[in-house]
Amino acid sequence: MTVDTTAINRLMDRFDKHESVWLFAYGSLIYKVDFPYQARRAATLRHWQRRFWQGSHDHRGTPEFPGRVATLVAARGEVCHGVAYLITPEVFQQLDYREKNGYLRVAADMQLDNGASAEGLVYIAAPNNDAWLGPASERQIAEQIDASHGPSGHNRDYLLALARALRELSAHDAHVFTIEKYLRPENTRGLGNGALPE
Ligand code: BEZ
Repeated sequence: MTVDTTAINRLMDRFDKHESVWLFAYGSLIYKVDFPYQARRAATLRHWQRRFWQGSHDHRGTPEFPGRVATLVAARGEVCHGVAYLITPEVFQQLDYREKNGYLRVAADMQLDNGASAEGLVYIAAPNNDAWLGPASERQIAEQIDASHGPSGHNRDYLLALARALRELSAHDAHVFTIEKYLRPENTRGLGNGALPE
């Protein structure tokens, strides 16, 4: 279901008076950088993991046939690799609109690649949002991604661009790379007809 979280996110004013804020990016914000920033660093977020459990009805799918995009789920002991951007608080207006389908801005402590920790924000789509799809096997997720496209393009391109960006960061993510394996051209013929192992 399409939702609009822009009004809720406007209430998150914790950093409004700051000159700049760190934003932790773990999905399309890593590779689709259509917003201004002052600094960009590889970064990690402890006790969270990336999962393709959020529905996309407005970018990589449609209300009838939602795609699947990344969110973070709490996972003690896990580390999510991504990128931290230093941005001015005004930039959130643009990002809130772009990520309005269920994502809320949440305060987070991230580790930067220079060893420093930084308090900032991260967009998370939680299980209680109306666009949430939840867990499925990586093969099922790949099948849905393979079949989905929306106003921002094919869902497959989102997953493949993210996998490429993670490799450029030398970051491993078994969930993303397993889905990517199912989506490789030599494997997509097997999707949906039971020819590939689970
Ligand atoms: C991210 O890259 O951090 C992100 C992408 C889409 C929605 C929310 C966050």
